[in-house]
Amino acid sequence: MKISFQNTTVERDGIPALQEFTAEFDSENAAYAILGANGAGKSTLLAAILGLFPITSGKVLIDELLVTQKNAHVIRKRIGMVFQNADAQLFNQTVQEDVAFGPTNLDLPPEEVATRTADALKAMGVAHLAKRDVTRLSGGEKRRVALAGILAMRPEAILLDEPTSDLDPRACRELATLLNDLPAFKLIATHDLTFARRVCPKCAILQNGRLLAAGNTAELLENTQLLESSGLA
Ligand SMILES: Nc1ncnc2c1ncn2[C@@H]1O[C@H](COP(=O)(O)OP(=O)(O)O)[C@@H](O)[C@H]1O
Ligand SMILES: [Mg+2]
Repeated sequence: MKISFQNTTVERDGIPALQEFTAEFDSENAAYAILGANGAGKSTLLAAILGLFPITSGKVLIDELLVTQKNAHVIRKRIGMVFQNADAQLFNQTVQEDVAFGPTNLDLPPEEVATRTADALKAMGVAHLAKRDVTRLSGGEKRRVALAGILAMRPEAILLDEPTSDLDPRACRELATLLNDLPAFKLIATHDLTFARRVCPKCAILQNGRLLAAGNTAELLENTQLLESSGLA
């Protein structure tokens, strides 16, 4: 899968949150970090891929498919998003019910829903929490359950918005390992540079809605001047 932004501008409340942004994210690279300070446009970039906001000018393509609000339902079957606030994503009573919600809504047969739910719980290391109440989990557990819910829909790509924002260092490390073992294509908005280095071979750095730099994460994150000017260090 190739996700391409071509001179894309997305205005929010009349202000360009993403500005004349051009970049290509290719699933051959497994994972990209979308880096930038607060307000740089990271969440807007992820939301634009799903057609959650109208595109003011330019375009976004998923392979050959143009992202429009009309195409959004097709795109959301191929690409899943884990929002920044895991609480907002979990709304069923038990972990198992919550993870089963997505595949159930895809109108899959019950056996397939059960298999996918069990596989996703296992992949995220939360099978032992299946019967637990979703409101009574730790931040790290909620994050993994939210991710399992997306995985159960077997999307081709997964967008994660600030996945480590409420995790302690150990939970960050564990999430990094889980994501590295996951075969899906990932775009991860974050300002956690350690996490980006662990999970994402490639990155794009945003500043004020514009692309400041793109390339190999390990190389770009060596550039202290770049990190300072983009507000990442
Ligand atoms: N709900 C919103 N309504 C209007 N403007 C917003 C909203 N959320 C963010 N913005 C603006 O869009 C720009 C990019 O924000 P965002 O994509 O959330 O950045 P990031 O995720 O990098 O912190 C900022 O200038 C921000 O003020
Ligand atoms: Mg954000």
